Amino acid sequence: MEVSFRILQKDELHLVRQVADVVWPITFREILSPEQIAYMMKMMYAPEVMDKEFDEGIRFCLVEDDANPIGYIVWGQCDEVATAAKLHKCYLLPEYQGKGIGTQMLQQAIAYAKEAGYKSLRLNVNRHNAKAIKAYNRNGFQTIQTVDNPIGNGYFMNDFVMEKILDS
Ligand SMILES: CC(C)(COP(=O)(O)OP(=O)(O)OC[C@H]1O[C@@H](n2cnc3c(N)ncnc32)[C@H](O)[C@@H]1OP(=O)(O)O)[C@@H](O)C(=O)NCCC(=O)NCCS
Repeated sequence: MEVSFRILQKDELHLVRQVADVVWPITFREILSPEQIAYMMKMMYAPEVMDKEFDEGIRFCLVEDDANPIGYIVWGQCDEVATAAKLHKCYLLPEYQGKGIGTQMLQQAIAYAKEAGYKSLRLNVNRHNAKAIKAYNRNGFQTIQTVDNPIGNGYFMNDFVMEKILDS
């Protein structure tokens, strides 16, 4: 299936939120409590949070099917390692999953990171998110660390850190 990718301007970030509002609660309904889902949605997708991320250099790329928003990838510089890019978000509407579009999204993120001169691409994924881990493994990401990051309110993100080394 042919989809297109478009890097968003600051005044278009609501399009990401529109997709997130659908896919995020579905993705985590069997992994996180409804309270933690609501808390994290606000923490990551509140307009002021996304605007600040944009100002700090994080880029939001919309995935479209015939001009309809169906997913998004979000990336930036990795805080911990100067030579690494970080894939902050990679989400696709449920009805579009399992068709190879996730792999196209990951290949697009890899291309952006390479183009920007990074040596590797890192991401965090919830340890119970088997579908995403499978897609990441399929595209050459390997687990390099296990982390339990506190995010406030007594909540944690129980993640794997995964990395793909980029060929020059
Ligand atoms: C992570 C995510 C983007 C990956 O997308 P995906 O569509 O599941 O992954 P892929 O594109 O690699 O799809 C591969 C599947 O499509 C199938 N497929 C069908 N047609 C295909 C084609 N033309 N090309 C490639 N794969 C195809 C593959 O066989 C494979 O099936 P399998 O998983 O049963 O083996 C997606 O699952 C998602 O948005 N999940 C919810 C959000 C989420 O968890 N995000 C990550 C948070 S860290």
